[in-house]
This record gives sequence, structure tokens and C-alpha cells, in this order.
Amino acid sequence: MKGEPWRIKMVEPIPRLSREEREARLEMAELNVFRLSSEDVMIDLLTDSGTGAMSQAQWAALLEGDEAYAGSRSFAALKEAVEAVTGFSHFFPVHQGRGGEKILIPHLVQRRGPYVLGNMHFDTTRAHIELAGGKPLDFLTPEAKDLESLYPFKGNADVEAMEAFIQEVGPNQVALVILTLTCNSVGGQPVSLANAREVARLCRTYDIPFFLDAARFAENAFLVREREKELAEEQIGDIARRFFDLADGFLMSAKKDGLVNMGGLLALREEELYWELAPAVIALEGYLTYGGLSGRDMAALAVGLKEAVDPHHLAQRTGQVRYLAHLLEGEGIPFQKPPGGHGVFVEAGRFLPHLTPEDYPGVALAAALYLEAGVRGVEVGTFMMGRDPETGKERRAPAEFLRLAIPRRVYTDRHMEDVAEGLFHLKRRAPQIPGVKVTQEPHALRHFLASFAWKGT
Ligand SMILES: Cc1ncc(COP(=O)(O)O)c(C=O)c1O
Repeated sequence: MKGEPWRIKMVEPIPRLSREEREARLEMAELNVFRLSSEDVMIDLLTDSGTGAMSQAQWAALLEGDEAYAGSRSFAALKEAVEAVTGFSHFFPVHQGRGGEKILIPHLVQRRGPYVLGNMHFDTTRAHIELAGGKPLDFLTPEAKDLESLYPFKGNADVEAMEAFIQEVGPNQVALVILTLTCNSVGGQPVSLANAREVARLCRTYDIPFFLDAARFAENAFLVREREKELAEEQIGDIARRFFDLADGFLMSAKKDGLVNMGGLLALREEELYWELAPAVIALEGYLTYGGLSGRDMAALAVGLKEAVDPHHLAQRTGQVRYLAHLLEGEGIPFQKPPGGHGVFVEAGRFLPHLTPEDYPGVALAAALYLEAGVRGVEVGTFMMGRDPETGKERRAPAEFLRLAIPRRVYTDRHMEDVAEGLFHLKRRAPQIPGVKVTQEPHALRHFLASFAWKGT
């Protein structure tokens, strides 16, 4: 069967806005697409986080949610699912991924040392490391730099460079290592099992805690099965489990592969660390058996975690990303290759070659695409990278992207055709698209909050 592996049972009308209406809305949002109302967006590819559609089984579970403060039936269901999918028995539910980051990272930075190494940290992870007085460091495989190459594991960590750094500063200066699966900040690119094993070995050698950021653990497992020969015959769930088995713990924003709209997990192998963190969880998130989630949210997540590893779901999901990529390729629109697990990262810098990184081509292209087609994507580039907190200098991104992140089980392939068509039209007018200048910028996390104006206005 070629079609989506689900039938649509409930529909949400898509707003239709004229070009003039979109111009007015974008002006009110000061060219920052985060500030648009969803009522003004026709196809929303801002993020795949918390924007998916739940299944009928999840909605049914929701109605059976148990809202007891302590020891709820829904927590028990979640515990059963977490153990079955990940093998971890000690975990805290948290309100979303960053809730877990806020609990774990300051504790390990204070106890061990400032450095937190990873393949490439997500922006909230980076922010929590810096807020805790730590230093986030990315050790991404050099193959990721070539955006045109078909290297299959561009999310891998550069283990040699990591080891050299650990030897230079001393292992007790390293708070933890976080391997992000798939690596969102580098285009949702997968990490191979061989690489995860190497990172785990390194951490064991130097006695450094090894954590996964498992927000997209199932998409990673699916891509790994396709690309890593020794795993070609394995079940997705078993592959995911092999990754989990390597780690001392994991952080998970369940808004991605947990297939829920809100939620997260912080899991720990060691019971001792669980009890060390428990008071902070109660103070910052909630009691240990709900930690910032209602019972019904935990009930839906318990179902979602199991649905996430369904190969039909994952084939449709990655297939939809590839379909959009295929349409863009046909028109010569540059994007990161091969396409990652959760979206297509259009190379805004090459799409608008007359702009420099200081013109923020990703921001300009996001604004232009909204005006053209009512499609909302977002910049992932120099503007998102923000400034070094010590020097105040802008951090230059390795590439200037417009990210088109596809929500799970929400849009059909026909919608992808609409998105592609918007970009085709823009391509013809690309030389006329100006850069943007910043008119207001907060001290941190600027891409959510800043305002812009077109250059030359
Ligand atoms: C890899 C990764 N880690 C952490 C987070 C933070 O999760 P949340 O948005 O649930 O706080 C995200 C969110 O997009 C992510 O992609």
C-alpha cells in the first residue's frame, strides 16, 4: 500500500488568507514567524515538536487518565511502556524535554565540571548548560560539513576529537556527554549504532556519564536500519533498545517520537542518581509519579511510545520528508542531503546567494515563503545560534537553513506539493528577496523573540 497508514477521522479546517492579509500579518509579527498566530498560517512547518496528531488509541487512553497525585494508574502504564521500549526502570515524567535538562544538567555540572560534550547540542540544552555555568561543546563528525554528500550518518560524533579534548582538560572536568538522536541542530541526521558504541566506550574508559537526547529515537532507529548493514534485518524497537542499552540515562522531549503534544522523560540507570535528583524534580516539576504532567498525558504517552516504533508509521513519516525533498530536488532547490528524519533543511544561503550571513538569509526566506504561500518554516542558522555569552559575539552557523519541519500524521503528501510550489515560485524571484536587519533583540534565545525589518526599508 502506497498511502498513509491511517485514515483521517477528524479534520481541522486550514485558514485561507490572501497575499494582502499575509503581508499585514507578517508586518504585525515584525517578520518573526514565531510571532504569527496559527490562524494566519496555511501549512505550519515551524516545528515537529508537539504538533503531531494522536491516534484513536491515544485519545481513548486519555479518557482513562488517572489524576491521582501520587502513584496513579497512568504512571504505572507509563512505567510499563518506558521499561518495554527503553529498558530503563528509573525515570521522572517531566513537562517537556527542557524540564529534564533543567534537573539533570546543573546537578552534573556542579558535581563534576563545566564541560558538556555532544555531537551537536539542541538550543535549549545549550541554554541550560550555560545557565548552569557550564560550557557546551559540539564534536560533530566532519562529514556533516559537506551538505551535498550522501554520507549516511551526519549526526555522528567525532569521537577522536572528543577523546583528545577529554585528555586535554581531564575527564573530571567533563560533566557528561549527550548524544542527540537524531541530531536536530544538524538537520535531523541520524547517529549510527557503531558511533554510539564508540561514544559509550569513551565514556566508560574515562568514567564520564553518557546520556542520550532521545527525542527522535524511533526515527533514528528507522534510518539506522536502512543504512547500517548489520541491522538491516532487525526490528525497529530492538534497534532503539540497543542505543538505550549503551547509556547511563536519557533525556527525551516526548513531543517528538513520544507522539504526544506535551511531555518529556528523564531516565537514569543508577538508582542513586535518581534519588539525588528526586528533590529537584518535586520542587521544579512535580511529585515523582507525575512530574509536570497530568495523568491523561502520561496515559497518552504510554501508548505513543509504543506506536512510535511502528515501521509503517516510520516509513510514511520518513517517506513524506523524502517526497518533499524529491520535489525540491526536481526544481534545483538546494537542501541538506540526504534529508533527515523530521524535515527538509533548505539551504537559504544558496537559495539567496546575494545575501551574506549578516543578512540572515534563513530569516528572510522564512518571511518570503510565508508571504508567497502561507507556509511557515523557520531559520536554523546564524540568527538561531545567538551570541557567545562571554564575548557577546555572534556565533556563525555552519550553514544558513530554512527548516521545514513536518508534524507527525498531520499533513498529506498533497500539502507537501503546495509547500514545494511556494518555493518554486520564490526561486524565480530569489534575486529580488532582500536580507533582513534586526530591530530588537533580547539577551538570550533571540530567534524566538527578536524583531526584524527588510533591509533597504
Ligand atoms: C533534540 C532536542 N532536544 C531537546 C529539545 C527540547 O524539548 P522541549 O521542546 O520538549 O522542551 C528539543 C526540542 O525541539 C529537541 O529537538
